Amino acid sequence: MLEEWLAPKAAALESRGLTRRLRARAADERLIDLAGNDYLGLASDPRVVQAAVDAVHVWGTGSTASRLVTGTTALHEELESTLAAYTGQESALVFSSGYLANLGVVTALGGPGTVLVSDDHVHASLIDGGRLSRSRVEVVPHNEVGAVEKVLAERNEPHALILTESVFSVLSDEAPLAELAEVALAHNAVLVVDEAHGLGVTGGGRGSVAAAGLAGLDHVIVTMTLSKAMASQGGVVLGPSLLREHLINRARPFIYDTGLNPAACAAALAALAVLQAEPSRPGAIHAAAARLATACAVSPSAGAVVSVPMPGPREAVRAAELCLAAGVRVGSFRPPSVPDGISRLRLTANAGLTAAELDRACDVIPRAIQEVS
Ligand SMILES: Cc1ncc(COP(=O)(O)O)c(C=O)c1O
Repeated sequence: MLEEWLAPKAAALESRGLTRRLRARAADERLIDLAGNDYLGLASDPRVVQAAVDAVHVWGTGSTASRLVTGTTALHEELESTLAAYTGQESALVFSSGYLANLGVVTALGGPGTVLVSDDHVHASLIDGGRLSRSRVEVVPHNEVGAVEKVLAERNEPHALILTESVFSVLSDEAPLAELAEVALAHNAVLVVDEAHGLGVTGGGRGSVAAAGLAGLDHVIVTMTLSKAMASQGGVVLGPSLLREHLINRARPFIYDTGLNPAACAAALAALAVLQAEPSRPGAIHAAAARLATACAVSPSAGAVVSVPMPGPREAVRAAELCLAAGVRVGSFRPPSVPDGISRLRLTANAGLTAAELDRACDVIPRAIQEVS
């Protein structure tokens, strides 16, 4: 029965060059990695690794239950207060992933009395939160503040959320946060900013919301992932304490999910400590990203990701394979992960790349692109 059901779907994907495949990493592989999201180069840092190991010895291998039962440890609370202080927010609440943090905040604030004004490039987790919340959703063109304002001004709902990212995951460009916050305030709306690609990267590491002077405002909420620059796993919602209380009581992805593994909390705390002790790391990300962008003849990006448009999905995959064969791992974006349908190579700069590795990458990648184009 599943054969008849699924085989035609698999064949349709294959014929369009859109089949996704898992590829396990070998523990001993020696590749230059421009595909992972370890932006600060801390996932193998001995200080971060040791913190996770120590936490396993203290707390065991799991959090044992949901946050409201036994799944909150001293490490969860320390991580929340440290992250809130670092980013200039009143409070923080840790979820077990960034995906669930977005789902949690949108579903807990959304509903029939709330309209969601969503940039057409936001991450799938914000889109899925909108669908689950049963709110009216208005998708607006990328970074068009005028379109946001029009929806807000013409709405009938008492509540409104503007959904955006600080640095967008595909184009790696920045949202006009100050203008969006101003429009939100003028129209009694709340701005939700996903800083998955901002934390540890923009604003000297504190993210774009802090850099724009918007941290701590009553109508601005921030979400983050701990799986990229923080070299760990987990998600966070930051904002006023009242919001935190509301999420603890109403966010189903928080209430009905096992708490984040304590070792992941410890790793994120250690990564944050390294970032604070070594504030030059975000600058190294930007320098590496600028070199990669120049080598591939694309515009500079605001974050760690450098996006290189390709003729189609097959070419993107083939170019990535050629790079891999030459010892450089790069990622690729293909539909449905690209809002404009354009397949791309996804190069991730990170602060741990050596000059020799960057030289090699800047030689290999343009040649692979040329070969398939
Ligand atoms: C913009 C954005 N938001 C949210 C997420 C989800 O975060 P996590 O991987 O922690 O679930 C990602 C990660 O892929 C992302 O790029």
